[in-house]
Amino acid sequence: MHFSIFTGVLLSIASHVTAIGQKQIISFESTDGCLTLANGGSSPTVILDGADWEGVIRAGRDLAADFGRVTGQNGTVMLMNGTGVAATNMSSVIIVGTIGNSSLIDGMAKSGKISTGKTEGQWEAFQSQVVSNPMPGINRALVIAGADKRGSIYGIYDVSEQIGVSPWYYYADVPAKQHSSIYALDTPKHQTSPSVKYRGFFINDEQPALTNWVNENFEMGEYGPGFNHKMYAPIFELLLRLRANYIWPAEWNSMLAVDDPRTPPEADMYGIVMGTSHTEPLMRWTKEQSLFLNGTWAWATNEKNVTEFMREGAERSSPYENMYTMGMRGLGDTASPTLDADSLEDIIGVQQDILRDTFDTQDISDIPQMWCLYKEVGGYFEQGMDVPEDITLLWADDNWGNNQRLPLANETDRAAGAGVYYHFDYVGDPRDYKWINTINIAKTYEQMHLSYERQARTIWVVNVGDLKPLEVPISHFFDLAYDEPSMSSPDSTMKWLRAWAAREFGENVADATASVMNTYGMLAARRKYELLDPFVYSNTNYNESGRVLGEWQSLVNSAQAIYNQLDTATQAAFFELVLHPCMAGNIVHQIYLNAGMQNTYAYEWRQSANTLAQQVLDSFNADAALTKRYHSLLNGKWNHILDQTHLGYNWWQQPMRNVAPALEWVQASEVSLGGPLGVTAEGSNGSAPGDSIYNAGLGNWVQTMPPIDPYGPSSRYLDVYMRGPGSTDFMISADQPWVTASPSSGTLGANGSLDMRVLFSVDWSSAPAGQTTVNINITNSAEDYGSVSMPTAVLPVNKTSVPDSFSGFVESDATISMEAEHTTSNTSADGVSYGIIPGYGRTLSGVTLFPVTASSQSAPNGPKLTYDFYAFTHAPDANATVMMGTSLNTNPDRPGRYAIALDDEEPKEVQPVPDFTLGALPEMWYTGVANAVFTNTTRMNIKPGKHSLNLWALEPGVVFQKIVVDLGGVRESYLGPPESMMV
Ligand SMILES: *[C@@H]1O[C@H](CO)[C@@H](O)[C@H](O)[C@H]1NC(C)=O
Ligand SMILES: *[C@@H]1O[C@H](CO)[C@@H](O)[C@H](O)[C@H]1NC(C)=O
Repeated sequence: MHFSIFTGVLLSIASHVTAIGQKQIISFESTDGCLTLANGGSSPTVILDGADWEGVIRAGRDLAADFGRVTGQNGTVMLMNGTGVAATNMSSVIIVGTIGNSSLIDGMAKSGKISTGKTEGQWEAFQSQVVSNPMPGINRALVIAGADKRGSIYGIYDVSEQIGVSPWYYYADVPAKQHSSIYALDTPKHQTSPSVKYRGFFINDEQPALTNWVNENFEMGEYGPGFNHKMYAPIFELLLRLRANYIWPAEWNSMLAVDDPRTPPEADMYGIVMGTSHTEPLMRWTKEQSLFLNGTWAWATNEKNVTEFMREGAERSSPYENMYTMGMRGLGDTASPTLDADSLEDIIGVQQDILRDTFDTQDISDIPQMWCLYKEVGGYFEQGMDVPEDITLLWADDNWGNNQRLPLANETDRAAGAGVYYHFDYVGDPRDYKWINTINIAKTYEQMHLSYERQARTIWVVNVGDLKPLEVPISHFFDLAYDEPSMSSPDSTMKWLRAWAAREFGENVADATASVMNTYGMLAARRKYELLDPFVYSNTNYNESGRVLGEWQSLVNSAQAIYNQLDTATQAAFFELVLHPCMAGNIVHQIYLNAGMQNTYAYEWRQSANTLAQQVLDSFNADAALTKRYHSLLNGKWNHILDQTHLGYNWWQQPMRNVAPALEWVQASEVSLGGPLGVTAEGSNGSAPGDSIYNAGLGNWVQTMPPIDPYGPSSRYLDVYMRGPGSTDFMISADQPWVTASPSSGTLGANGSLDMRVLFSVDWSSAPAGQTTVNINITNSAEDYGSVSMPTAVLPVNKTSVPDSFSGFVESDATISMEAEHTTSNTSADGVSYGIIPGYGRTLSGVTLFPVTASSQSAPNGPKLTYDFYAFTHAPDANATVMMGTSLNTNPDRPGRYAIALDDEEPKEVQPVPDFTLGALPEMWYTGVANAVFTNTTRMNIKPGKHSLNLWALEPGVVFQKIVVDLGGVRESYLGPPESMMV
């Protein structure tokens, strides 16, 4: 227990209520006019009308139990009818009810105790307030009145969250924060309807992880896995606590209504709107097709049976609240070769007739219907298909978190509106991502803010795979969906993360945890784990793989330091939500990046190739051990939940076993030809003597380092290492006194290490201006060098200088690299300006136009970003590469465009993503989403001196990340050169 140590801190925390983004109605300190709900072992009575929705009463029981979770003393639930209670002078009371369904609430409204006018009839709205003498026998009560079933339920869970129970108390083991005193503030609250009407997730491709977990914990069904009503109940509860209301249940090998007929009524009782996925019309699951459909799933040849099959789905589900998926696709989530826009119009006509028959009404506009424009389906719509107004158009992302299309101006007034089907998990091209969380929520914010502003507000549904490892992006998604305007500013993600961390782990670690998760989101989204390989990051240039490994290690160190401060109960949740993904991501990077380095070492004949190979195998084992650690957590509660393989992908589909990348060994006992000492310069994978350039003039093997100048890295390096057993001393010196080698001598092998990195730095005050070639002399004590002479090395030194008056980026190594947010100036025009989205992208942030509904902009008069830089090199064919987020052209009439210009030159317009039709993404998309960046390069003639690079986003949705100007020196890397120096 750490409480005694931190008493001072805890006191200030004690009153802090941590419901994310919600108006505070609860306090842990007594304030003026507040109502005591719990104090010193007492807990409130939750009073409901026995005739209210069963789901409201059920949530009321949760509330009573939640008080127990927080105070140790459960609240009591009292169901009653009419307006009085038997007991008298009750004061710790919470009265909950649904307007029109609760005689208690309606009675108070009628007698003027409360006024429900603003709430009544508002979808999922609620109000709460402290009321004196709400009814006979009760002195005061916190009264929660919901406009409808879910309004009441959200009102209940608002209290639960504010008293300290996380929505993730079960699914991520977040312990309730302990408090003995709880008060309701005397401040009325009116909660309006959510920003998005239907907010849900899709449990998808839930095999092996979730399926294996389910089968171990729940009874298997007649037809397969144990996805039964007992399994779903906590998921329904989780959704409601997250203020969501909609689900597409698991369907990879299950069919909810058949596997357990008790599940649909259970969902309905809870208040969850049941749906089926985009590819499963009229509430029938794919697996049902092979079991219960006469003939095949083909409209062209089996229309009658398919119609009957769908009719049974509508009838079976008709007692419950559903969202009906309309339309049709081919077999098993694929395009059908025989479907086209005409036949789909027919199919939807038949489906609407089925709904009219089933519900015995001509007007089906109140029956929620959705048509998902997923993959090829969007193409039919583009062909001009006529879709009835009472069907919501559910636009789909590209499976990689980039919306393909959002409502156009002339589509926003469709009666049933529009929505978005989004992905946090995917099985398909260019590669599955279904192991652990790889979502950068800054990007989720950017895409969903755009969706909201573009009026896709009827449905947001997100594919969450196995659900469990995606807790953070799920929470974020539903908070956005519930109250988008409160999270609409570009820096909202960091604020949200902080509030989230405070709720789950406490105030005192909130800043540190938010910072860890912000960094995690960026590092994990740079490239999905499944797409890593040993050579993605350069292990010769910019020390890239070394830097990336360093970032991961420091992330793990930060997460571990927070973990160490937490009490045992909180540690489990922190491990699941924060520490595990950091450690797991670090290990996977160690496996791949060290394997790349290992291969390079073997290529360089280093003795240490073998040591590094063993290190990779150790990491490979650590990966398995970490999975085991997760699986044995809390007595095995989550056994199997990380059964997903994730190492050794060789095409888009998962490997059936985890496989380590290829490693290479040197024959350790033999000495290399050319002696035991090897030398490799930064930027090279050659090894001297031998595999490098023999310089006849110098009479030996030369390794050349990248040039050093005052505006780049402060040192360059040579690696010296053993190329065989035994040991050797080495000495290194430069032929100019103003170049220092560190260390200048050492011992390799035996008691020393097998490799050393020798850094060369320059005393710029003594170095001559301009270019000098400095020769590096290397000697070693080994006698057996045979006929091969010792290697030597060269350090090109380039003493450049910018005028004192200049400020901006300075060229180094014929390269200028600039983070988009580091502008010299940026302008706005007509209320349109640039905003910075922190944490967006691969290295720092994203810069994009706000408001996102702005009209098309123009160059040079539109909002402009300017980057001053100073060049020393004359580069007539310089390349300016703009790196952007992978946003697609969500409006085909206004594809994403930007303009770029050097100085006062004519702006050049660029459309990074070519025009495409839905379901047929352009070729550049595959590498773009794999690399998590779109790039486009413009040629320019750059002369030495000061310049301004000007950049204009011409449409909202273009998000700049980084600009690299290549004056001939840019080397190969994944993230691009590190940012240039600014003076
Ligand atoms: C309350 O009234 C409903 C019908 O309106 C009835 O079903 C229920 O049994 C009653 N409950 C109590 C506790 O009297
Ligand atoms: C409190 O409520 C929970 C959940 O309903 C229950 O499991 C527990 O036994 C209750 N505790 C007491 C002391 O009644």
